[in-house]
Amino acid sequence: MSSDNIHIFDKIEDLHKGFTAFIIELLSEKERISISLSGGETPKGLFDYWANEDKSIDWSRIDFYWGDERCVPPTDSESNYGMTKKHLLDKIAASESQVFRIIGENNPAEEAVRYGELLDANLPSENGIPQFDLVILGLGIDGHTVSIFPHQIELWGSPANCVVAQHPGSGQNRISLTGKVVNNAVQVAFLTTGSSKREKVRSIIENSEAFSDRYPAAHVNPSSGNLHWFIDQEAGRLL
Ligand code: 6PG
Repeated sequence: MSSDNIHIFDKIEDLHKGFTAFIIELLSEKERISISLSGGETPKGLFDYWANEDKSIDWSRIDFYWGDERCVPPTDSESNYGMTKKHLLDKIAASESQVFRIIGENNPAEEAVRYGELLDANLPSENGIPQFDLVILGLGIDGHTVSIFPHQIELWGSPANCVVAQHPGSGQNRISLTGKVVNNAVQVAFLTTGSSKREKVRSIIENSEAFSDRYPAAHVNPSSGNLHWFIDQEAGRLL
């Protein structure tokens, strides 16, 4: 992949600044953008940076979606929406009209259908598939992304927009975007930090083909060609 799209930062704050500039660039090209957010721990620091230090993004021009959600209520500490609400949405006074959460407390199978239909209704269609302006992805140490895990890698190729997946350790139900939606986005950006990810970062950036049989993240290959990696020095140590 082009080294232009691999953004490595010595300091986490510089990564946050660089990602902010990336978002502002997208907003310079389009009046309103749709972003699918990642969950887990990594985005918390970025959300805190946006909430407390950097007010340069016009949040009113962004619609918020999620790439995946744990099947728990929003008040549960596991909820990606709950984490985002606490660290970002409440702090930027996002209006309900621009927030489209996956309803983790719903029946999983029904919610996967509902959210998939919501994407079809809300987003422009490209190749007959809902198209996000930006999908932000995390990278698991096992090579998963969104909530498609190696033991269920076949879900990546599902014809549906969203599927029900299970965490390999806890068995926790998750709702996840599928590969067809991720790879249909105008821009896709991995946001990945920490030394625990460095082997997977190298494997996937340098030889995704060789790891595509086991790492769902190796299948991220947007048809737009716009795949970015925003990583810190630790995660990029082996590149
Ligand atoms: C989730 C995520 C998941 C996450 C990776 C990395 O719901 O957990 O969306 O794909 O991005 O597991 O998680 P960390 O940022 O916690 O390492």
